[in-house]
Amino acid sequence: MEDDHLAPSSSHRFRLLPHPPLARPSRGTAGAAGRSVAKRLALGLCAFLLASGGARAAANPALLNDKDAFIADLMSQMTLDEKIGQLRLISIGPDMPREKIAKEIAAGRIGGTFNSVIHVDNRMMQDAAARKSRLRIPLFFAYDVVHGHRTIFPIGLGLASSWDMGAIERAARVSAIEAAADSLDMTFAPMVDISRDPRWGRTSEGFGEDPYLVSRIARATVKGYQGPSPARADSIMASVKHFALYGAVEGGRDYNVVDMSPLRMYQDYLPPYRAAIDAGAGGVMVALNSINGIPASANTWLLQDLLRKDWGFRGIAISDHGAITELVRHGVARDDREAARLAIKAGVDMSMADTLYLQELPGLVKSGEVTVAEIDRSVRNVLGAKYDMGLFHDPYLRIGAAADDPPDLYAESRMHRADARELARKSLVLLENRNQTLPLARTATVALVGPLADSPLDMMGSWSAAGKSESSITLRQGMEEAMRGQGRLLYARGANVTDDARIVDYLNFLNWDHKEVFQDPRPPADMIAEAVGIARQADVIVAAVGESRGMSHESSSRTRLDIPASQRALLHALKATGKPLVLVLMNGRPLDLQWESANADALLETWYSGTEGGHAIADVVFGDYNPAGKLPISFPRSIGQIPTYYNHPRVGRPFVEGKPGNYTSQYFEEKNGPLYPFGYGLSYTGFSLSDVVLDSATMARGGKLGAQVNLKNTGTRRGETVVQLYIHDAAASVVRPVKELRGFQRIALEPGETRTVRFEIDENDLKFFDARLQHVAEPGDFEVQIGLDSQDVKRASFTLR
Ligand code: NOJ
Repeated sequence: MEDDHLAPSSSHRFRLLPHPPLARPSRGTAGAAGRSVAKRLALGLCAFLLASGGARAAANPALLNDKDAFIADLMSQMTLDEKIGQLRLISIGPDMPREKIAKEIAAGRIGGTFNSVIHVDNRMMQDAAARKSRLRIPLFFAYDVVHGHRTIFPIGLGLASSWDMGAIERAARVSAIEAAADSLDMTFAPMVDISRDPRWGRTSEGFGEDPYLVSRIARATVKGYQGPSPARADSIMASVKHFALYGAVEGGRDYNVVDMSPLRMYQDYLPPYRAAIDAGAGGVMVALNSINGIPASANTWLLQDLLRKDWGFRGIAISDHGAITELVRHGVARDDREAARLAIKAGVDMSMADTLYLQELPGLVKSGEVTVAEIDRSVRNVLGAKYDMGLFHDPYLRIGAAADDPPDLYAESRMHRADARELARKSLVLLENRNQTLPLARTATVALVGPLADSPLDMMGSWSAAGKSESSITLRQGMEEAMRGQGRLLYARGANVTDDARIVDYLNFLNWDHKEVFQDPRPPADMIAEAVGIARQADVIVAAVGESRGMSHESSSRTRLDIPASQRALLHALKATGKPLVLVLMNGRPLDLQWESANADALLETWYSGTEGGHAIADVVFGDYNPAGKLPISFPRSIGQIPTYYNHPRVGRPFVEGKPGNYTSQYFEEKNGPLYPFGYGLSYTGFSLSDVVLDSATMARGGKLGAQVNLKNTGTRRGETVVQLYIHDAAASVVRPVKELRGFQRIALEPGETRTVRFEIDENDLKFFDARLQHVAEPGDFEVQIGLDSQDVKRASFTLR
């Protein structure tokens, strides 16, 4: 086997994908999907027993079913160097070639690895750990399984747009099944950083702006990844990230500082991490940013007082890539030695891409600056996580036996296309549909244009770790299939994503094995002329425009939110043809769509919709699926409005629509409020809501209150929508948001059907953090708001006594 099977790593570049298929006689597909858990367990155990000559980790096997005793026994046999070795998470790559890593592992100097997704490699490394190291402590294998593994699901914002917790849990489950079948034990996900600033490129990975919705998704994804137990052969451990508050980096500039009031922290930004931990996430990844002056990686309050003492977390805290070294650059450590000391003392158990723990901890312990007890605390957490992943029971649990290694990692039988298509359809948000432009007739002549119409790489989004672009269905492919034998599909690229050479260079730097962005060398005017030519022959234009995936990625912060100029020029020319214009948007953040929203006949937000995106979008474009996605994040009118989020705290001089705006909180140059609000999304049918009826005008402490509305499908098609419950607190001891989401239900109705939708409100739904950071419900008046988005709501009031 060659070294190039070991994928290089970097925190900044895309993960590497096409591993050569392993040439092995086929024994059928041995993916987790096709292999029973019991069989895998048995095979894994067999392999382990063979490999280790029947031995387990050097701890007393009789203690194996008593986690604490087992770990204590093991630790009693460990040298300091072996303990420090467990605290190192190493990325496989050119700096750490195969021979070197095997030696390091056998010497007990590595606790886990990431970025290696090949059975042969991981088996070789596990052999070194579980057979050759003195104490035979198994490694774990981690990877960024963020929105899919081999099968790529929509990016975070897309998943969130489904508002379908069952479907999101399913996506995480499928990801876990595929990742576990590729010998992985842990994912660096879910990413639950609240984002209210779309300039931040990582907005794409998260689930939007709302603490309640993101918390629900955090729970669903942890359940999906870990299944009934992270120790199962088809489960992987979840490590929630980035703890904490990474989404609030100042100005949306990646890695920038976070400065935030405790109230906002507790009320809005911390709940999703907490929800993931309460759902049992075994790991936490520590954020790269500082928080109110202290980097998260050196933040004792964050990692001990809050995480462990207040929240009771007992899992493993892992640094982000190279974050400990960065403490020197943050300026809180004078040198590497101090950086390592600060991180271990604060509670960073494992150092990702470590050099400093290896280099500095022995000396720090020797000098007494770090105690053995502090090292032990972290070692216990690392070993505990390995125990919880089932690795002490069977180090080969997910690696399996060599005879079962998949002959083709990308075999279709290892993919979950039906799940991906279902989720992708649910993630699409219809923003405009004038004159019922959509759905299109299959018999029409359609001009498909735009640089994203046939771009398999972009379909996947940027954290599509082990996905392969060749597996993606593009919009062009999806539409061709849907129209086959009926209408005519004409295609022209029309423009490059951008003509700015500097940006193209930037995007290509993000990927190291092939060009990230394809540049058509023709002059822009020729490309536009070709697109206009086919548009003139067509009944309708479908333009796939937006950002290439690297524009919405780690480190890809923007100062503008518009569609790049090359594509805007194309859109203007297409508009001038007078033909109906449908825009299929592909992007990883809210964009400034003022022109597009005023000029397009239909606007469909598709994010990056994954492996089956092209099929899913075609399903919506031709009406085989009625869109029901709702925005999990507000779309501002312009970049100057940022931050724009629906649950804004109240102000003393609020702007009131329709009233003179002087001396109220507003921007005088443009309309106040978002272009598209949180929770918004259209359907091909219409829905109406009755007034809200409450069970009572009062609610007793500890009691419950029912709130209901009648939802009617007023159109002629079956459709789904999301009914949303918001609460507004009339007066409290601290300034409260104008409203907060507290519940939602996704409902499907036949044409003409009416259904009563009922929500139960209890005291917890009224709670907030007060000035002393106590989570309280204060007596007084509340308004219940129920709507199909966060703005257009029906209201009723009650009093908490
Ligand atoms: C850096 C990123 O911030 C983090 O999200 C990711 O998990 C690690 N690199 C590992 O790739």
